[in-house]
Amino acid sequence: MNGFVQRIEQNRETHCSAEEYQHLYRRSLEQPDAFWLDQAQRLDWFEAPTKAGEWSFDPVDIRWFADGTLNLCHNAVDRHLAERGDTTALIFEPDDPADDGRKLTYSELHSEVVGMANALKAMGVRKGDRVTIYMPMIVEGVLAMLACARIGAVHSVVFGGFSPEALAGRLVDCESRFVVTADGGKRGTKPIPLKTNVDAALELEGVTVEKVLVVRHTAEDTAMKEGRDVWYHEAVSDADCPCEPMKAEDPLFILYTSGSTGKPKGVLHATGGYGVWTATTFHYVFDYEPGEIYWCTADIGWVTGHSYIVYGPLINGATSLVFEGVPNYPDHGRLWDVVDKHGVNILYTAPTAIRALMREGNGFVTSRDRSSLRLLGTVGEPINPEAWRWYFDVVGEERAPVVDTWWQTETGGVMITTLPAAHDMKPGSAGKPFFGVVLELVDNDGEVLDGEAAGNLCITQSWPGQARTVYGDHDRFVQTYFSTYRGKYFTGDGCRRDEDGYYWITGRVDDVINVSGHRMGTAEVESALVLHDKVAEAAVVGYPHDIKGQGIYCYVTLNAGEEGSDALHDELRVHVRKEIGPIATPDHIQFTGGLPKTRSGKIMRRILRKIAENDFGALGDTSTLADPSLVDRLIEGRQNR
Ligand code: WTA
Repeated sequence: MNGFVQRIEQNRETHCSAEEYQHLYRRSLEQPDAFWLDQAQRLDWFEAPTKAGEWSFDPVDIRWFADGTLNLCHNAVDRHLAERGDTTALIFEPDDPADDGRKLTYSELHSEVVGMANALKAMGVRKGDRVTIYMPMIVEGVLAMLACARIGAVHSVVFGGFSPEALAGRLVDCESRFVVTADGGKRGTKPIPLKTNVDAALELEGVTVEKVLVVRHTAEDTAMKEGRDVWYHEAVSDADCPCEPMKAEDPLFILYTSGSTGKPKGVLHATGGYGVWTATTFHYVFDYEPGEIYWCTADIGWVTGHSYIVYGPLINGATSLVFEGVPNYPDHGRLWDVVDKHGVNILYTAPTAIRALMREGNGFVTSRDRSSLRLLGTVGEPINPEAWRWYFDVVGEERAPVVDTWWQTETGGVMITTLPAAHDMKPGSAGKPFFGVVLELVDNDGEVLDGEAAGNLCITQSWPGQARTVYGDHDRFVQTYFSTYRGKYFTGDGCRRDEDGYYWITGRVDDVINVSGHRMGTAEVESALVLHDKVAEAAVVGYPHDIKGQGIYCYVTLNAGEEGSDALHDELRVHVRKEIGPIATPDHIQFTGGLPKTRSGKIMRRILRKIAENDFGALGDTSTLADPSLVDRLIEGRQNR
């Protein structure tokens, strides 16, 4: 059992044993239609689908359950009323533990979603309109998403930590005419001026927003623009608001995510397939049983929040906890306080949070009870075995299985994981493919690698939760995901398969970096840097960072006559924060006289990455550089940092 941590017998009606996994996995590949039409029955359909997947990766055309009609708000809310109207749907835990939280039963959730849906309708939102949601982590953010789904509007949630500039880019791209926001937010002791940011974004070029719905949350003085801004509490009404029947392929949401090149892409998910995928994965991965308290610490601004705070849990009738705060406020024991306060059974968080808490020592953990914890999950980036062990040994006291779930914004839900009752675990490995997921490792020439191997991770068969397109730019969708290896979906990740068929994600192989579980395009940071009037050129790479997984390393050349200085270093960091948001703040900026380029002018990022990693021995062939002596100067600059 080398490398394995044995699965844990939990003496409960487990949802999926090892044998069942084998059987279901095989069936999902051999009879995909029958398998997925069965899984589709987890949802209520107005018109049941008679077909499952109809797809091709060359040319790219993906449809699932196309002749079915349904509504995901109905599935997440209304259909539970008869059986579990009095069950808690959402628990709200505020940033400040001294503030009052709230609990909403499914009945209460229903009334509030109807209220929000009516407010949206009163602003003029109609089926198919894009509604941008820019919110703190409060219940109203979830309500806004569900209310959009209810009336057939397409939500585009923008993380509340993004700057006005970043928000404006996302408003313009999907021609959004509506924003839902709050007066402000709070994370730890830090206020987030959401409404002020929206006001600033709406002044920027190309933004076509007509109405802004504002939730009163922090109760600070808020300037409201006559005719444009509407208070949520004045706009709600309890008028009847039926769920709009949607075709399975109708869009549910757009979520912007970073890629190798250019601006963030609006990844688009369709109603039926996404609903089936999140419902099915939530059920199996978290092995949820009625009555359990489930907590995912993500933000609704990321896909994890969409799939595993909102849709997956609520479609399953679970109790989902919404946390406004951060793990280190008021102290490093906050997560465990919340676990104890609400009796959390299932905790789903990110490796970066685990590493940050691990560094603070065991005392913050062991001083809390945590006996309610039954299952632990991680997502967002590779987890190093040391952090995995700490999560398993110290947090879960070896009684709670750990599921390390690999997936992406584009996959809609979990793709690789162990299932708690089916698989032994390996610290650092995500595990095995979920039902219907067919993985392939290929080398750089596209040759398929069998058995134990390391290569680029591709997926060869469509699955229901797969993104359908990039909003407004289908060519970019095809180019980004299906052109590197024709006929296959390329994930952008490197991966190793071991002798037991377990998958180990090694990180991105493209120009995307993963900072504290946040996905970021190096090109975005570069564009932000060159907007500064002293910067001539910039190249950004990731480098290993103890807590964040990866840090942001920037090489900057200045315009003629400008000098690098500590003051300019700080100014550029602030500048990038302003352009994108705090999550993009550079860790290091190295001023350099030039960037290493080939004679044809291509920046050699491989060299920049190695230097940022302090790995000067393996720079490879530098003979094709236009100016090979530059490398020594770059190394010297790195050593002086
Ligand atoms: C990385 C987040 C290793 C990976 C759900 C992927 C992971 C990117 C894991 C997607 C994991 C996510 N182990 N790496 N368990 N989960 N990743 O779109 O590089 O924000 O491509 O989706 O995060 O990030 P995204």
